[in-house]
Amino acid sequence: MMMASNPFTPTFGVVPAFMAGREDITSELLAALEEGVGNPNLTTIISGARGTGKTALLTYLSDAAQAQGWVSVNVSALPGMLEEIVQQTHAASAHLIDTSTPAKLASLKLGDIAEVQFSDSLEAAPTWRIRMGELLDALAETDTGLLITVDEVRDDLDEMIQLASAFQHFVRERRKVALFMAGLPAHVSALLQDKSVSFLRRANFYNIGIVSDFEVEEALGKTFDEGGREATPEALKEAVQLIGGFPYMMQLVGYRAWNASPDSPLISEDDVLEGSRFARNDLQRKVFDTTFRELSKGDVRFLVAMLEDDGPSELADVARRLGKRSNYASQYKRRLQEQGIVGEVGQGRIRIELPMFKDYLRDQLL
Ligand SMILES: Nc1ncnc2c1ncn2[C@@H]1O[C@H](COP(=O)(O)OP(=O)(O)OP(=O)(O)O)[C@@H](O)[C@H]1O
Ligand SMILES: [Mg+2]
Repeated sequence: MMMASNPFTPTFGVVPAFMAGREDITSELLAALEEGVGNPNLTTIISGARGTGKTALLTYLSDAAQAQGWVSVNVSALPGMLEEIVQQTHAASAHLIDTSTPAKLASLKLGDIAEVQFSDSLEAAPTWRIRMGELLDALAETDTGLLITVDEVRDDLDEMIQLASAFQHFVRERRKVALFMAGLPAHVSALLQDKSVSFLRRANFYNIGIVSDFEVEEALGKTFDEGGREATPEALKEAVQLIGGFPYMMQLVGYRAWNASPDSPLISEDDVLEGSRFARNDLQRKVFDTTFRELSKGDVRFLVAMLEDDGPSELADVARRLGKRSNYASQYKRRLQEQGIVGEVGQGRIRIELPMFKDYLRDQLL
């Protein structure tokens, strides 16, 4: 029998065969693209911890936008980002606009000689907003919208601020544009605090975290199915338990379980258990080590105080163990919540939300 190829995607940035959860977000944003100009969700910021699926979500939305007829360009917030957006827009709209004459010169009625003489300085002169405005004018002729996705947003990049400010003008000019951004919680909140981009504070905002077990089970089952194999009910249950709602872990566990006995038509509970040992190792190296390094001393002290509890912790207990007042504890709780590490479970109780991070912390700290 030919070995079926593994349908899981345990690689950062890759859109999974089936996304667990996120349907509320994708349906809302696809509806916004459908409606077009004036829909407030066309400016959206997605924040989430490592491995929750921000890049996958942006890519999914970008593909879906293209399928709806939008031109879509995708960049990361890095120096050169604005030029990259211009170039990508040119390339992606080549079939819609005549790019043989640069859009920035098309409207200028210059004589041939003047054009030759001045074209260099004219090419250097227009601002990014003007250059993009001309591309958008051209796209508008076929009622085509432009979606810009920006991944890994940060506040310490001038071009990020320039982009936000120009984009605000595009919206005011009622151009058909959309801006979907994503980043780690700490970077997103720093960006939103920047005085020069108050426009972004009014943007549509999602904080994505873990997904429900039910959604994991559904996506996991469909992915096995897609690959032409089936997991036993026990295997599926065990896998869901191990995944703990963490999207990246779903890919790791699925991938490793699949490879445990690739020639069998069934995925067994043993396959899942064997696979999970590797998966845990992958998760530790690719997510936990980095996340741990980024914690402040105060964050770590707070987490150590939570480790005494096997289940969720009472915030009041944590504060007492730290010998601090509850508003001090609340402040750290908020910080860790922002980083996607801690979540509330109601009635003043909190828990470490990144699955298996608690065991990892115990290994590191106790
Ligand atoms: N909703 C989902 N369901 C199942 N798997 C998912 C989902 N979203 C993403 N994944 C998978 O999880 C992994 C991480 O996704 P992605 O790279 O998008 O995370 P990220 O949030 O961008 O992480 P980082 O902050 O490190 O950039 C990938 O292997 C991807 O295929
Ligand atoms: Mg990413």
